[in-house]
Amino acid sequence: MELLSEKALSFSRSFITEVRDASDMQSVVARYVDLKRAGPHLYRGLCPFHAEKTPSFTVNTRDQFFYCFGCQTGGDIFKFLQLASGKSFPEAVAELAEKAGIPVPRDAFITRDEDRVAAEKRERLRRVAARAAEFFRAKLWSPEGARVLKYLKERGVDGEVASLFNLGWSPEGWEELSRALLSEGFPREDLIEAGLAKAREGAAGGLYDVFRGRLMIPIQDADSRTVAFGGRIVGEHPPETPKYVNSPLTPIYKKGSLLFGLPQARPYLKAYGCVYIVEGYFDLISLHAHGVKNVAASLGTALTQTQVNSLRGKVREIYLFFDGDRAGREAAKKALPKLLNAEIEGRVITLPERHDPDTFVREHGMEALFALAEGARNVMDHAVDYLLDAYPGTLIGQARAVREVKELISEVPDSAKGQLLRNMFSERLGIDPELFKLSSAKAQEPRPSPPARLMDPRVQGADFLAARILRHVVIHPETAPLLKGLSLYWPEDPTLELFREFQAQIARDGQVNVRDLPPLDDPLLLLVSEAALAPRTAASEEAAAVFREYAQRLKRRGINTALSRLSVKIGRAEREGDLEALGSLLKEQRSLTEEKKSLGSPAAAGPPLFSGEGGPPPPRFNP
Ligand code: CTP
Ligand code: MN
Repeated sequence: MELLSEKALSFSRSFITEVRDASDMQSVVARYVDLKRAGPHLYRGLCPFHAEKTPSFTVNTRDQFFYCFGCQTGGDIFKFLQLASGKSFPEAVAELAEKAGIPVPRDAFITRDEDRVAAEKRERLRRVAARAAEFFRAKLWSPEGARVLKYLKERGVDGEVASLFNLGWSPEGWEELSRALLSEGFPREDLIEAGLAKAREGAAGGLYDVFRGRLMIPIQDADSRTVAFGGRIVGEHPPETPKYVNSPLTPIYKKGSLLFGLPQARPYLKAYGCVYIVEGYFDLISLHAHGVKNVAASLGTALTQTQVNSLRGKVREIYLFFDGDRAGREAAKKALPKLLNAEIEGRVITLPERHDPDTFVREHGMEALFALAEGARNVMDHAVDYLLDAYPGTLIGQARAVREVKELISEVPDSAKGQLLRNMFSERLGIDPELFKLSSAKAQEPRPSPPARLMDPRVQGADFLAARILRHVVIHPETAPLLKGLSLYWPEDPTLELFREFQAQIARDGQVNVRDLPPLDDPLLLLVSEAALAPRTAASEEAAAVFREYAQRLKRRGINTALSRLSVKIGRAEREGDLEALGSLLKEQRSLTEEKKSLGSPAAAGPPLFSGEGGPPPPRFNP
């Protein structure tokens, strides 16, 4: 997908707004979430960002915001695409621009240098990788690839499957790819940084190919863009040559950052509700060739949390289908905490020793595979069996088992889940659960913080009261004109930006309209999204009364702050004997005190803003 011409980048506000207005939130979200209508402009569905059984994910299609009341994630159409597809902000904007047929103009870019340079580079490297994949593919289908196609055929892989995975052949010569790409104008540095070529020692400017004489397997990211390669020796090979050569770590690929084959599997995941996870390139390709399409590969390592997370919202269940040896069983055990974190069920298919999925399915066929899958055990049972098997019931064996269990539990940040694991292992292994308690060092490691609670604006570094007022205005837009009197008292904090936007809207249109806001940064975006999906809590008169009460508190607080600053100044003027200054300061003090009196005394507790919603209690301020 070549979206971004030369520059992947940050855009001007007007461009972003144009793209947003031309995009349809409902259809973008519907690509990931099964939406049900829940009211005028309101849709509801199962949240793609956390596991749930009853829908708490909502979309306001008029204002174009989403918010999940379960995991408190929210935002606009760009944020949704970023979270749902792992895109960066500029990539999300560019994708929607392309969909809407809006050309990406040069002057749409504003410079945020570091981001821009890094994004440009990634885009360039993806272009080199895409071109290399095409080069290799053409070689496979040229006369010199005949031997490789024959090898594939022997392994049960026909031309159709080879095409689906865009397989290729890297020629034996030392610099065929480098020479071809350099002559097409690809920069030398990009070839090196993409892991496709290395600099020749001595020879200035000389390059040689990293992949030579290998069957080439492109690795694609979630957007089907080639980001790396695996290259397999064809046929027999001397023991000193590695069977596979893989792309190194590059700015566009990190081992364990993605699942191989996911783009090809994606269309089938929803229908099956489950996915087979295998380890190797050929396990995956071979299963595909046998008609198993819901399969992805971890590529040589134990499954990572990132890989598991990439399946959230796509499948309910994962079948771990690793090699039949001890390493394979161990890898399956290690997946337990990751699956628990992602709330995806896991089952473990146990292969006969000395088989991998590829050899098994070729020798015994699909029916035998499905029979194995039928008998697959829950990943928890598997982990228990593994531990019982690996460690005898001696003291030393049990001590080792304790150590392993603690390691598994330490990977689970959620304390309730951690405790469930502890109890389960204790019961099944017959070991006192106290022994699984994490020692202080581990236990005190900072836990990843839960998603910011935007019901409580305090966590956003925003003034609590100011954030409350803005939220109230979004929910009850008819109260917005009342904002006008508050300029003098508004705190200097992140909410100020939104306050100014609302004031500008009122001055221009006589009302506020969150749909027309410029693109907002995170804390404000979250605040507006939540408010845009929050139910109205009051009738109009009541809403105005609530607003006035909050406005009064804001004013009173503003005056108090001003008064205490004044008294410091007055003290100084007195000490310094500056009578002139003292006179005007005292005058100011008098008028502020008057104003404060005219506001009246604070209501005992103030009206709750969340009546009936179970929100946090209203703030208490010192009058
Ligand atoms: N692997 C690797 N380098 C190696 C060996 C293995 O990167 N020298 C990774 C590859 O991702 C490979 C996976 O580990 O797919 C599993 O290794 P293995 O089981 O040895 O390879 P297979 O995928 O079974 O390959 P084949 O069937 O072609 O031998
Ligand atoms: Mn194999």
